[in-house]
Amino acid sequence: HLFHGRNLDYPHSVLRNLTINISFLKKGEVAYTGTSFAGYVGLWTGQSPNKFTVSGDQRGSEHLWNWWKNIVSAILYRRSPVSWLVRETLEEAEDFQDAVMRLSKIPIITGVYYIVGGVRPGEGVVITRDRKGPADIWPLEPVDGGWYRVETNFDHWLPPPARDHRREAANKALNATGQEHINADTLFQASTA
Ligand SMILES: *[C@@H]1O[C@H](CO)[C@@H](O)[C@H](O)[C@H]1NC(C)=O
Ligand SMILES: *[C@@H]1O[C@H](CO)[C@@H](O)[C@H](O)[C@H]1NC(C)=O
Ligand SMILES: *[C@@H]1O[C@H](CO)[C@@H](O)[C@H](O)[C@H]1NC(C)=O
Repeated sequence: HLFHGRNLDYPHSVLRNLTINISFLKKGEVAYTGTSFAGYVGLWTGQSPNKFTVSGDQRGSEHLWNWWKNIVSAILYRRSPVSWLVRETLEEAEDFQDAVMRLSKIPIITGVYYIVGGVRPGEGVVITRDRKGPADIWPLEPVDGGWYRVETNFDHWLPPPARDHRREAANKALNATGQEHINADTLFQASTA
């Protein structure tokens, strides 16, 4: 079983209050669903039923605040190409592999992390994106103990800035939980650690 969790470190309750769940319909059927902000047409979090899930995170040498400036200006402009690719992928990709290919190679305007989960064992990957293509692909490796992957806003192969402890807190919480006990509730608890 695969679980894909994300959190949003809201700086202000305006965005929290604008958060909505959306179902996108095709011929009256739910084609895919996502969590977004009222008035915003891109998606940073979504799932295509029985196929795959996607979330996007700012890739941050920029200050974290820019992430929210980006969202605020994107609400004004209604979309950003980086979050539009998430939506397009949810709409068009056939399965996990197809989604990973599209999110890895389609050019975008800025670096980002795309995290993709599938429906079969081991289908999970963190894609570190440059504008032109993938900088790194970091898959689950359940056989070698890689039963989870944590991505905050920094390249996973580098140490995060000294005062940012989110990665370590999440790793610690997941290690303490253990693979046998992971489920939607324990994952949620770890994401708020
Ligand atoms: C967000 O909603 C909460 C609960 O309804 C409310 O107390 C708060 O004032 C709202 N914040 C803004 C900025 O609208
Ligand atoms: C969105 O859906 C999830 C899952 O059902 C739920 O936990 C969450 O409260 C919903 N959020 C909003 C803003 O409706
Ligand atoms: C979590 O467990 C992994 C695998 O045993 C280990 O490499 C890592 O250092 C641990 N991280 C923390 C923060 O405890």
